[in-house]
Amino acid sequence: MMREQQRSTGPTDEPVVASDAEEYISPAPRVSVQAFCETAETAAAVQAAAEDRRMIKAHVRVQMGGMAAAAEAYRSSPTPNVICLEAEVRGEDVLAGLDELANVCDAGTRVVVIGRFNDIVLYRELLRRGVSDYMMAPVKPIDVVRSICNLFSAPDAKPVGRVIAVVGAKGGVGSSTVAHNLAFSIARDLALDAVVTDLDLAFGTAGLDFNQDPPQGIADAVFSPDRVDTAFVDRLLSKCAEHLSLLAAPATLDRVYDFGADAFDPVFDSLRATVPCVVLDVPHLWSGWTKRVLVGADDILIVAGPDLANLRNAKNLIDFLKTARPNDRRPFYCLNQVGVPKRPEIKPSDFSKALEDDPVAVLPFDPQVFGTAANNGQMIAEVSSGHRAAEIFRQLAQILTGRSEAKRPRHKFIPPMIDKLLKRGRAVGS
Ligand SMILES: Nc1ncnc2c1ncn2[C@@H]1O[C@H](COP(=O)(O)OP(=O)(O)OP(=O)(O)O)[C@@H](O)[C@H]1O
Ligand SMILES: [Mg+2]
Repeated sequence: MMREQQRSTGPTDEPVVASDAEEYISPAPRVSVQAFCETAETAAAVQAAAEDRRMIKAHVRVQMGGMAAAAEAYRSSPTPNVICLEAEVRGEDVLAGLDELANVCDAGTRVVVIGRFNDIVLYRELLRRGVSDYMMAPVKPIDVVRSICNLFSAPDAKPVGRVIAVVGAKGGVGSSTVAHNLAFSIARDLALDAVVTDLDLAFGTAGLDFNQDPPQGIADAVFSPDRVDTAFVDRLLSKCAEHLSLLAAPATLDRVYDFGADAFDPVFDSLRATVPCVVLDVPHLWSGWTKRVLVGADDILIVAGPDLANLRNAKNLIDFLKTARPNDRRPFYCLNQVGVPKRPEIKPSDFSKALEDDPVAVLPFDPQVFGTAANNGQMIAEVSSGHRAAEIFRQLAQILTGRSEAKRPRHKFIPPMIDKLLKRGRAVGS
């Protein structure tokens, strides 16, 4: 069952137009950015941009004082990769200030100007002087993120490397099954090149589900980060189907997998640079690296079963991720294994109310079809292409890749019973 939906983002829950939410901004590399602002409003926006997931590698410093302070600062110290200047003054003063700054600016430093004037002549003059971008105040954090990140991505490069993280609200809810079928549908139905990355190194099932037993996989990359580049990662991929490759987990226990928070960064950077769509099968864990993987993804799909623990965990995950990703649309969630005979279940409508968002899909419990697929190393669409779940995976693929988006109503009223359970859940989780 697919629900009508209207995505929203940010603490204010302002509706985000689809083109905004689907806009792809590649993360900034390890660069230094120094901002010289004139207004507290702009300084706050730049500071918020610095905390955006796409700026996690950049070092950003925000100061006040505008162009005069910048010129003064760089008289005696080297300039960073990016200088962001707020200029409240009129056009000619902006140009004079820039000329002064040019005398102390190192070659290679890029300058972004935030100004008050919507003036095409000024804009052309700024570009002529080598300014990389001009933004009109007031700026939103995402405007600053976009401006800085775009300085480092090739201007006419096709956007590649959309990362979709799939995680379970509890273990065993079927998040890997959903991740694999989603990736399969992205590759087969949308003909988009996709890579499934199995991050459950000890117990991952992607190899089994795609009937593959590759000799190499993600462990080779994560244990030798210095060797990781596009060609290296390319050799670790095994082809599952047309448009679909797998970066498999070893699923062996001869090592332990205690990773640092940024252990997967080189692998993801490399995949992002070459693959249009990366589906991450994230194990149900809460650690430095899983948190970083989820916060850093372009979109997140939480898979939940219809019970109370799943509801509480999904709520905690969504609340956390909404706060950690204020400039992104909120995580999607879907319900899986719904309709187990005789099992009391929490209804999808109660999930909608408690999570203030409808599930993006509700997948039926069907042990026959899912069991056959799992045991044969096949996808649901291969076992039974007309199955309701196969159709749901096709629609999920469209939504998660931003190929289509419908409108959905929002729920404000939370029934007292669920509200009480949630409060209890929060107390347990805190
Ligand atoms: N809708 C469904 N109906 C019936 N069985 C299902 C359904 N979805 C998944 N399963 C089965 O549930 C089992 C667990 O699925 P899966 O391994 O995908 O869960 P997981 O959340 O990734 O688990 P883990 O926490 O171990 O990683 C598998 O045997 C799978 O075939
Ligand atoms: Mg799994």
